[in-house]
Amino acid sequence: MSDQETDKIVIQTTAYSSSVLLFKLQSWFPFLVKAAKMSTLILGGFSTLLLLGIYHFQSHIIYPAGLNDGHGTVDTPDLYGMHDYEAIDLETLDGETLKAFVVRQNPKAPNYSNKTVLVLCPNAGNIGHYLSIVKLFYAQMNCNVVIYSYRGYGHSTGKASEKGLKIDADTVIKYISEDEQLSKSSLILYGRSLGGAVAIYIASNYPSHVHGIILENTFLSIRKVIPYILPLLGPVSFMCHQIWDSESAIVKIPSNIPMCFMSAKKDEIVPPAHITSLHQLSKSEYKEWHEFPNSTHNDTVIQEEYWEKIADFIRDKVAPYGR
Ligand SMILES: *[C@@H]1O[C@H](CO)[C@@H](O)[C@H](O)[C@H]1NC(C)=O
Ligand SMILES: *[C@@H]1O[C@H](CO)[C@@H](O)[C@H](O)[C@H]1NC(C)=O
Ligand SMILES: *[C@@H]1O[C@H](CO)[C@@H](O)[C@H](O)[C@H]1NC(C)=O
Ligand SMILES: *[C@@H]1O[C@H](CO)[C@@H](O)[C@H](O)[C@H]1NC(C)=O
Repeated sequence: MSDQETDKIVIQTTAYSSSVLLFKLQSWFPFLVKAAKMSTLILGGFSTLLLLGIYHFQSHIIYPAGLNDGHGTVDTPDLYGMHDYEAIDLETLDGETLKAFVVRQNPKAPNYSNKTVLVLCPNAGNIGHYLSIVKLFYAQMNCNVVIYSYRGYGHSTGKASEKGLKIDADTVIKYISEDEQLSKSSLILYGRSLGGAVAIYIASNYPSHVHGIILENTFLSIRKVIPYILPLLGPVSFMCHQIWDSESAIVKIPSNIPMCFMSAKKDEIVPPAHITSLHQLSKSEYKEWHEFPNSTHNDTVIQEEYWEKIADFIRDKVAPYGR
């Protein structure tokens, strides 16, 4: 059944039961009915307003781009000792400008890994907040790293939406595939939370460009997360227009791409069962599963062994392209 059909059924059922109720009351208590009609009207008005509000403002809740000084200062890689960074602008097909940082290894170095990590950010903060992670991929794992601000985030133009973020992902993949050095390296997608949904989108749409995927605390779909965070809104989660259907997309990722799953067992935002299901649904021949019993949604990166597991995965399971 399509979502629209579901919506219609829900609305029709509600309308039906209230009219039956009104009819029954009407035959017995004409006075009460008047009052009931009035309050139905008032309550109906309130709930309609509330629902309209939720419908229009959900983007602000799902993509809180301004939170944690999101549009303020964006730190640059040199502050983290990566002096040869490039700050680039990527133009999307629909006219937005995305800000990105690229840090490159010397391809002539004897220990060149020939691997590139694309960091896909969660829904809060700006790319400057994730430079310590960029540094680990760059300095500890010897990888080239690309990180970009989704539209509406940091100093990128536009307004975040599922449709827009997918265009942004198309744009960054086009950039990587046209770059002399990066296009000739193995690409590893690293996606946390919302970034995991973007990673699944990229891998299912551009499988030949992707050579490894790391997913952390990500969801089956946003609709399925709502009842967990906001139980009161559970019954109206069908009104959520930002869907990110990773549950359907993950099965389209070809089995030859190795995957690594990181799960915080005390995640208070995305139910840990979601990434467990994604792990089960994935058709990858090689999947790694790591869970962190004491970790909540945002502190998985600081758990013991987290970075060792990621470094091992990148070093041992992702082949240097073409070798
Ligand atoms: C934790 O992550 C969620 C979702 O990515 C975000 O909305 C929230 O602001 C973060 N909290 C902190 C304290 O960073
Ligand atoms: C790779 O080699 C360069 C130059 O020889 C060195 O600076 C760097 O630390 C090495 N990286 C790793 C991860 O071994
Ligand atoms: C989780 O926390 C408990 C209690 O603080 C501790 O004993 C245990 O070692 C921790 N486990 C991990 C994997 O960090
Ligand atoms: C990296 O892999 C590509 C693709 O096979 C190859 O053309 C290139 O020479 C490799 N680079 C290095 C430095 O080994």
